[in-house]
Formats: sequence, structure tokens, C-alpha cells
Amino acid sequence: DRYQLWGGCFEEEASTDLKHLNDSLSVDSRLFAEDIRGSRAWAKELNLSKHISDDIYKAIVEGLDKVEEDIKKELTKNGRLMDEEEDIHSVVESRLREYAGDAALHLHTARSRNDQSATDTKLWMLNSLKKLLNEVIQLISVTIIRAENEIDIIAPGYTHLQRAQPIRWSHFLLSYVWLFKEDVSRLEEQIVRLSTCPLGSGAIAGCALQIDRIRLAHSLGFNDITPNSMCAVGSRDYIVEFLNWSALCGLHLSRFAEDLIIYSSQEFGIVQLSDKFSTGSSLMPQKRNPDGLELIRGAAGLLLGDSFSFACTLKGLPSTYNKDLQVDKEIMFRSYDRLMHCIRVMNGTIKTMTVKSEKAVALLDPGMLATDVAHYLVRRGVPFRRAHHVVGSTLRRAAALGVTLQNMPHEEYVAICPDFGTEDEFKKIFSWEASVEQYSSAGGTSRAAVLQQIQTLAEWLQKY
Ligand code: ARG
Repeated sequence: DRYQLWGGCFEEEASTDLKHLNDSLSVDSRLFAEDIRGSRAWAKELNLSKHISDDIYKAIVEGLDKVEEDIKKELTKNGRLMDEEEDIHSVVESRLREYAGDAALHLHTARSRNDQSATDTKLWMLNSLKKLLNEVIQLISVTIIRAENEIDIIAPGYTHLQRAQPIRWSHFLLSYVWLFKEDVSRLEEQIVRLSTCPLGSGAIAGCALQIDRIRLAHSLGFNDITPNSMCAVGSRDYIVEFLNWSALCGLHLSRFAEDLIIYSSQEFGIVQLSDKFSTGSSLMPQKRNPDGLELIRGAAGLLLGDSFSFACTLKGLPSTYNKDLQVDKEIMFRSYDRLMHCIRVMNGTIKTMTVKSEKAVALLDPGMLATDVAHYLVRRGVPFRRAHHVVGSTLRRAAALGVTLQNMPHEEYVAICPDFGTEDEFKKIFSWEASVEQYSSAGGTSRAAVLQQIQTLAEWLQKY
């Protein structure tokens, strides 16, 4: 008859409705490798601490190898496990019974699914978060390469989506790279915090048999052990942190996507997306839609939602393990997969898009140099606040005459403020290149300041 993890004191089977809600195998079968790895380590610790014999230990690990092989095959073939069991822990244990016989009955000695499931999740995260980290690094390098190659492109910079000042296109690209760099360091910090092993916490009270938890933790690649068994089985802060992280990273991707969507519209036309990373319309033959970027923007909303909804799940729970915690994995995998796709699509979009430098320059207008005109006066000794007003008046005068700042006769300037000096001197302002080159202090948009950013980032990237 069926191998059961529990039920010794039950007379009736659980209702199928409850089973439906309770079963998590369709989600947590994804943790099979971690579950088996954790079980191997647990069996080894039980053996080293003399709680199971060498023979039993041997039967268990040999059986686990076979179970792992079977599960891997079935998942590859069917995409899911057909077992009747409620979760992956039950599947591994009941299948082990078939290979290892009664030796399997020793595996769960002093262990609970509570410490086991937290351990499996953390093992999965330690491995997977590094993959995500690597994707962010890839996105950063691709964007830096563009920034290096496109340093000569000058484009309009916007605040409030109104034309503000000319900027180097690379400066714009790097403004996102710096955000992603912080995402990387946040995730790294989280990975360090995550690296404490819950195994040996049992269901709530700890482990009643003498074991060496540090040795066990190290054997699984953790840095340390969880310091309190109740906290270990009841906390999901590492998942909350990860979901918050995903939401923030998604938010950065979403804003980047939004900029590129705007820039790829015909009205702006600075960016053209590649065929690989845009889609057409079923009706309008001319369309080239930024669906990938829009989906990134949409996904960011769902990532925020997931991070919020899991915090809601935790908020009112009494301490230690409650079954509510089981939803942690579903939401974690979901956010992880979603974010992974978004980063990859962003990476491909950036790598393959075309930037139209002539279009970018064509969007610039002399009004965007008004700030530079004010700085011109400041350099000639006019206090900034007065200079700001003077330039305001010149803009009004230019509008009244129907000319741009560049075309307005110099006498008009001098009539408003004698400090405008000679025409030759003043006219030098009207160069996009000269404009951006003024912003040469650290963090600015001049060539040197942008190259400095690229160099700092490139040095940092060498770590990876
Ligand atoms: N599958 C469960 C989870 O992931 C672990 C089972 C613990 N169950 C329990 N009744 N204590 O949370």
C-alpha cells in the first residue's frame, strides 16, 4: 500500500477539495534536485553523528541517486510528476522506499518538512539568484558597449518630458546602468544574508539528536546556520527581500522601457527597434510595435504586485510554520521567471536597436540652450538669479519677433542686458557640442565626464 508521511492517527482520507488546495507538487517539483541534495547531506550528518549505520546511509544515498535520475527523466519527458503525493518531499521519500527499502524509514529522523522546505528553497535561491545576477551584468555590459560607441551622439534631454538640455546619448544610457549596478550590489548583499542553513531546526524546537549543524551547513555550501529554530521555520524574509528586489529591478527596467518606447515612436524617431525585438500588426502593415518593451513595463506592475501580495500573506501570521507559507515558492518562481525574461528581452533590445543620431540632433532646438545663455552671463559676472530673468526676457522678445534665440539680432540681446558683450563671443554658445562639453564636472554629460563613468564601470565589471 501507499507510503505515507503522516496519517497514522487518521481514520479517513482528506477530501479531494482539500487535497487540491493542499497539494504543492506541481510547484515544488522544481525543487527536486535541492530536496535530494538536502537529503543526502542530512543522511550524511545522521551517519557522521552515529544516528544511522553505514549500511543504512549507503542504501539511502544510492537510492537517492536513482530517485534523482528517475525524476529528472520524468520531468524532461512529461514536464511534471504524476505521483499522488502532496509535495516533492513526500515524493522523494516514498520513491526512496522503493529503492532503499526500510533504510528509507531512517531518512526523516529528527527532520521536519518545515526545516526541509526552507532549506530547499534557500538552496535553490543561492544557485538561481546568481544566474539572475549574471543576466543583470550582461545587460550592463551591453549597455556600456553602446555608450562607448555612441559617445558622439547628442540628443535632447527631457525633464517632465519637456525639452530640457542637450545631453550625450551615452549619458542617458549610463543613467540606467548605474541603477542596475546598484541592483547587482543589493542582490549580492541579499545572497550573503540568505546563506544560513535552516536544516536541524526540526518542526519548531530544533534537533533532539546531537548533530553538528555547522558541518551540515558547510556541506551544503551555506556560510552559516540559522541561529533560532523557530525563526528558521517561520521566517520568509529572504523571499520578501527577493520579491522587493525583483520589484525594484523591474521598476528600473520599466522606466528604461518607457523611454525607449517614446524614443521609438515616429514623433521622436531616435530609436529603431530591430525586427528581432519588435512585432507587427495583424491589420496595419506599416506597424513596428515595441511589444517587448511594453511587456517589460507591464511585468513590472505584476512584480510589484507579487512583492506586495506575499507581504500581505505573512503579515498576520502567528510565529513559526503555518501552511500559508507554502505559497512562497509559487510566487518566488513566478517573479523569478518573469524578471529573467524581462532582463533578457531588454538585453536583446538594447543590443540590436538602431540609434538615429541625425534625428536626435534634429530634435534639439536653440531654446534648450537658454540655461547655457544664463551661464554665459554668470561667467561675465551677472548673478545667476538676475541672469535667469534676463534670459527669460530674451525668450519673450524672441517669441514676439518670431525668431529663435540663435537667430535673434545681437542688438536685441544687448538692449535687454549690456553684459551680453560682443556678438562673436556670444555666438559660440550656439553649438550642441560646446553646450554638453561645459558639463565636465564629475557625473556630467561632457565627453570626459562620460568616459570617466565608463571607465569606473568597466573597472567594476572586471570582478565578474
Ligand atoms: N510543502 C510544504 C511547504 O512548502 C512543507 C510542508 C510542511 N507541512 C506541514 N504541514 N508542516 O511549505
